[in-house]
Amino acid sequence: MNPDSNELKALVHKITDLPTLPAMMATITRLMQDPRTSAEELGRAIASDPALVSKVLKLVNSAFYGFPGRISTITQAIVILGFSTIRNVVLTTSVLKAFSRNGSQNGIDVAKFWEHSLLTGAIARSLAVEREANFVEETFIAGLLHDMGRIVLSQKLTAEFEKVILVKEKAGISQLQAEQSVLKLTHGDIGGWLARKWNLPIPYVDVMRFHHTPMESLKQDPNTQADTTTLIYMVHAADSLSKHLVDGKPDLSAIHEIDPAVRAELKIGPEGWERFQLRTEEEIGKARAFLEML
Ligand SMILES: [Fe+2]
Ligand SMILES: [Fe+2]
Repeated sequence: MNPDSNELKALVHKITDLPTLPAMMATITRLMQDPRTSAEELGRAIASDPALVSKVLKLVNSAFYGFPGRISTITQAIVILGFSTIRNVVLTTSVLKAFSRNGSQNGIDVAKFWEHSLLTGAIARSLAVEREANFVEETFIAGLLHDMGRIVLSQKLTAEFEKVILVKEKAGISQLQAEQSVLKLTHGDIGGWLARKWNLPIPYVDVMRFHHTPMESLKQDPNTQADTTTLIYMVHAADSLSKHLVDGKPDLSAIHEIDPAVRAELKIGPEGWERFQLRTEEEIGKARAFLEML
């Protein structure tokens, strides 16, 4: 689906109360785009929001980042973990804050939604570690945020969402098929739109948009960066593996559930998949701790 399509425009036009990301996010993005920005400068910008400061410090001192209890100032956090990690922490905190994480609304169990997001993030991260990707952390965040379009659809387009559920149940088809038949687009398109509206980095936009159609990204934009397509493949694979956990570990026979083209692109051999399986339980534990702190 073209992001400028009429169906998408008409649908998102109905959203009247879309949460916004804090102005801090725009400030951080702007500062990061300027190569002259120093850690002190970025630290000063974040320091203007004390609640954010304590959250960032809590997170960077957690086991997730591997420096437990050793970082006491934002500037120190930026120097040790780098600009992009701090941006990712602020981004995740802001996005999660924008949507409710409790209760059940309009047929979507929000706690279940976040559990799925967390598992997808952790499994995607484990795949990124296996592939020795240099964007392991981005992979976790991309997995965590991949289904944001579903939240927008269920919480901000309730009439349309109810129609989708009705058609899904009546016709006995998948959620995705029902979205396509009722809306002529999917939560992937809605998520991609949201990510663009929020000025999220392009790889996150593409993951939200293409996680159910991973082979489409290159077709629709031949200039898509190789790292971004890899990111989409990993999140796509993690999304399907997250539905097949046995005793807290991904079921290796479920690898066959992954789109064969994506599986080939992942280039993980039999030993790699075994290492991945062993590592994933720990990744899930770390991701859970990360989310509990937000
Ligand atoms: Fe999805
Ligand atoms: Fe998903």
